[in-house]
Amino acid sequence: MDDSILEVRGLTVRFYTYAGVVKALEGINFDIREGETFGIVGETGCGKSVTALSILRLVPSPGAIEEGEITFKRNGRFDDVMDLDEEELRRIRGNEISMIFQEPSDALNPVYTIGEQISEAFYAHRKEEMVKEVISDLEEEIKNSDGFRKRILGFENSLYQKMLENPDSLMLEFFSNIPILNRYKDRLKEEARRRSIEMLEDVGIPDPEGVFDKYPFEMSGGMNQRAVISMALACRPNLLIADEPTSNIDVSIQRRILDLIDDMKDEFGVSVLHITHNLGVVAENCDRVGVMYAGEIIEIADIEELFDNPLHPYTEMLLGSVPSPEKERLPEVGGSVPDLISPPSGCRFHPRCPRADEFCEESSPALKEVQKDHYVACRELEGE
Ligand SMILES: Nc1ncnc2c1ncn2[C@@H]1O[C@H](COP(=O)(O)OP(=O)(O)OP(=O)(O)O)[C@@H](O)[C@H]1O
Ligand SMILES: [Mg+2]
Repeated sequence: MDDSILEVRGLTVRFYTYAGVVKALEGINFDIREGETFGIVGETGCGKSVTALSILRLVPSPGAIEEGEITFKRNGRFDDVMDLDEEELRRIRGNEISMIFQEPSDALNPVYTIGEQISEAFYAHRKEEMVKEVISDLEEEIKNSDGFRKRILGFENSLYQKMLENPDSLMLEFFSNIPILNRYKDRLKEEARRRSIEMLEDVGIPDPEGVFDKYPFEMSGGMNQRAVISMALACRPNLLIADEPTSNIDVSIQRRILDLIDDMKDEFGVSVLHITHNLGVVAENCDRVGVMYAGEIIEIADIEELFDNPLHPYTEMLLGSVPSPEKERLPEVGGSVPDLISPPSGCRFHPRCPRADEFCEESSPALKEVQKDHYVACRELEGE
């Protein structure tokens, strides 16, 4: 599709554990369109995080992507993430696609302060913009000074210009090794600090200046998660993957974070993959949504369409429109999700489905477009 930024086709992921092979994702398909927020919703253990990690090729051992294509639009053409080498993947991660991990500890380095880590995100992804800002401040200062000071500032300015032209220049390398001269970098450091503190403030961290100098272990899980969000936003990616971005965060701050992600979307046209098990969050924040069940995406539709006209029996159950003996256990209790080492045959939902018949035990339905932009994987609806 022309307007998509990411296309996932037939993605299959397994974990080779001692207990057996966990069939975590079974040939899932979805697209994320440019500028939209695509939600993925489903019960715990259904494969949401594994989907997110696959996009960045970060599925941890003993897991492996067995099959599938993950194509990502870069400068107008699609690259298959599966074909990229480590160096190119590093360039994509954080730069073009950034991720708010479900577990903040996966994203934070325990040996650096929060401030160092957010500053690093600014250096890595927004350096040019910061250098330009420093140059413009310096030019103002040069205008207002004279004599020796003017000459020194002029020299400093030329170093920044050089940095802009060629960040790897040997001349810069030379000056940055001379203690008295390497102070020219301080302004950039100050600029990164200013921006990081602003970012921490934006995500509702009280005392952002104090937090800037703290280590992750000195902060609560919720605070660390907010710091991770600051880092992801500092990168200003084309695609932001947010895996339960507000799960450890006070309800009072959640709205603020979601608004911040929305602002970034409006201002910079960022596409968002928003993973959650909270249907309210989906309803309020997503344009389209994919419903996952036991390692498969079983329905995709526009948000309003999904809520008004859910087609898959599982989606109906999730939305509460169909009475189910298990309903009070939905959607958060893990026990009701099938074991992915030996999932049910045929349609994985059939043991819980009020409409299942013997065919559903045998054949696994493919995701099909049954109405415009409304996809569903259910035998009952095939051919409609
Ligand atoms: N490192 C791992 N080793 C073995 N199995 C794993 C590993 N990581 C995930 N899995 C399995 O893959 C399946 C999908 O897990 P995933 O973390 O994607 O679920 P989820 O939908 O994100 O759940 P939650 O809502 O709890 O975050 C689960 O059955 C899980 O047990
Ligand atoms: Mg998860």
